[in-house]
Amino acid sequence: MGKKFQRPRGTRDILPVEQKYFKYVQNIFETVAEEAGFQKITTPTFEDSKLFVRGVGKEAEVTKDMYVFKDKSGNSLALRPEGTAPIVRAYLEDGMQSLPQPVSLYYLSNFFRYERPQAGRYRELWQFGLEVIGDKSPLVDANIIATVWRMYKKLNLTDISIQVNSIGCSVCRPKYVKLLKKYYSGKLTKVCADCKKRYKVNPLRLLDCKNDKCLEIQKEAPQIINNLCSACHDHFKTVLEYVDELEIDYELNPKIVRGLDYYTGTVFEVWNAKEGAQNSLGGGGRYDLLVELLGGSKTPAMGFGVGVDRTIEEMEKEEIEFEQKKNVNIFVAQLGNKARKKCFKLLNDLLDAGIGAEARFDKGGIGDQLKTASKLGVEYTLLIGQREAFDGTVIIKDMASGNQEIFPYEKVVKVIAKRLRSA
Ligand code: HAM
Repeated sequence: MGKKFQRPRGTRDILPVEQKYFKYVQNIFETVAEEAGFQKITTPTFEDSKLFVRGVGKEAEVTKDMYVFKDKSGNSLALRPEGTAPIVRAYLEDGMQSLPQPVSLYYLSNFFRYERPQAGRYRELWQFGLEVIGDKSPLVDANIIATVWRMYKKLNLTDISIQVNSIGCSVCRPKYVKLLKKYYSGKLTKVCADCKKRYKVNPLRLLDCKNDKCLEIQKEAPQIINNLCSACHDHFKTVLEYVDELEIDYELNPKIVRGLDYYTGTVFEVWNAKEGAQNSLGGGGRYDLLVELLGGSKTPAMGFGVGVDRTIEEMEKEEIEFEQKKNVNIFVAQLGNKARKKCFKLLNDLLDAGIGAEARFDKGGIGDQLKTASKLGVEYTLLIGQREAFDGTVIIKDMASGNQEIFPYEKVVKVIAKRLRSA
């Protein structure tokens, strides 16, 4: 007996039954993005770990969950926990600053986070992301929200809600954080252990704690939206005015503060309307300081990441149906050694002509092969027995009616192509 292997905890095999959802979602997301002028980018699965570790003492939650390792040369590398920093790294390294701005990119990639696995939370996850680098206009924010909304509409996922907030800039946020800390300072004995840490390390995250005691305290906390500087206030107001033009279902939510460290101004998340904050479907926002932080010139940017795993789970939950193109419509069956060789050739002639076909060469009996053909649900079975092999002919069996016709071998591929086209 060989050793029994198991996939690593928190990872999963995406089996063929789920691949059809994956392919469908990918196709819709990519089409919507490309029609809106986004271009695809693929970056390496691992990067210099320093790319993700920024802001001394203020580690983003994603950083502490990173898979970090040393390669044989002693370089410290990280399996990417998210896509925004790598895209900004590529923007700078590959000279995209000199392209006409903004640069609009999309990606579909796997990411790695050493999180505690649970329903909808994996250690290897898939995200579809959009990034627009080099444009500070509020229209970019509104346009990304509109693009995400369109992606979900095209999937027929209607049970979603978009939660929007602004978390200010380097001018107004520190002032607000002071106010927030002042509000919490007398209440620290009443908050959970995590919030005690958040108070010191990342006070904004006090606002999205889900602990019952903390929820109660959050109710009266000052809101950033009332404490924005005039530039942030005007920017956010314009974003909302543009989003209003499009009749998008959104809610202003002062608790949306996001888990990553680079956000400034507009932030938003996509939720299942019933389940709320638990397992958000996607999230994003502006990150106007990140390009500079990674060594570039001052460059505004905005982006979004959709969890593909969670989107597919949502489609399964809402029982979203979609049509799938059937790839295999022909089965090739054979009887006898000579026929087997001819069938092998016929199968490859069909595939060369772009006609999906299958055969089972190890199944002896014609009855067994026809059963397989029925199970596959093909429209036609092509049969070559000893007699047809000798005559140079092929029987075309229409699986629905059971009718059989004989054609010369040379004509069969053309006849089938024509029948499938007119079907
Ligand atoms: P994020 O909120 O960390 O943002 O992740 C975006 C989405 O990825 C989440 O809303 C969720 O659907 C999915 N996701 C995250 N972690 C997991 C997990 N462990 N298992 C399953 N799904 C997960 C970002 O990563 C930002 N880079 C998004 C962004 C792009 N912001 C600006 N541009």
